[in-house]
Amino acid sequence: MTRRKKDKYLFSNQAENVIERGKPLYTSIKGKWQTEFFYNHNPIVLELACGKGEYTIGLAEQFPDKNFIGVDIKGDRIARGSKIASGKGLTNVAFLRVSIQYLDEFFGENDISEIWLVHPDPQLRERDEKKRLTNSYFLDQYVKYLQPGGIFHLKTDSPELYAYSLDTIPRCSGLQILDHTPDLYHSPLQVYHHNIVTHYEKIFVAKGFTINYIRAENTKSGT
Ligand SMILES: C[S@@+](CC[C@H](N)C(=O)[O-])C[C@H]1O[C@@H](n2cnc3c(N)ncnc32)[C@H](O)[C@@H]1O
Repeated sequence: MTRRKKDKYLFSNQAENVIERGKPLYTSIKGKWQTEFFYNHNPIVLELACGKGEYTIGLAEQFPDKNFIGVDIKGDRIARGSKIASGKGLTNVAFLRVSIQYLDEFFGENDISEIWLVHPDPQLRERDEKKRLTNSYFLDQYVKYLQPGGIFHLKTDSPELYAYSLDTIPRCSGLQILDHTPDLYHSPLQVYHHNIVTHYEKIFVAKGFTINYIRAENTKSGT
């Protein structure tokens, strides 16, 4: 591991806004994000595969009356986001370092008002479909955490993942596609871009890719 990576791990280990294995809240936070982390009852928004957390931070600045949690497995990327959020004094931001496969240990039914999945790895090889974050298994999980009427957003630079998700989302009971576009920058849906350009988005836009976007609603009824 490089020195820089080591420093970042050390930083997030000490950062109050990062929850990761070994920290006390890691095993006890499920169902208690509002009372034991954010200390308010504002809605919770998740950014999955957040990398450096550009959406978590950008939306937290734009919507101070909501709480944002960026989730990623890579500690060095989360450490970058954590440092930026602390520097900006954002108290409505948390980062959770965990694999998305284990979200059940951190969130329960109806805990979340919105989920953003931003440029996930497309995992296009057939044998990797199980890792694709819009396969039917993951979509069912997201529906469980989303409140009735909650919104699922997908942004992807991959036309293949976009096409795949346009197929899997309607087959997921609960999610209904509200809008979608293969070119977010030149669409009336651009309002959902919030002027937030992530690290990977910058790279793919520079290569000439368009940004695909899907917005879906959780139509399950409340319990
Ligand atoms: C292509 S990067 C996108 C990062 C960021 N959203 C962006 O747009 O710059 C994909 C991210 O997903 C994370 N990731 C992939 N599979 C994951 C999983 N199962 N659980 C948590 N994070 C995952 C990777 O660590 C990586 O940071």
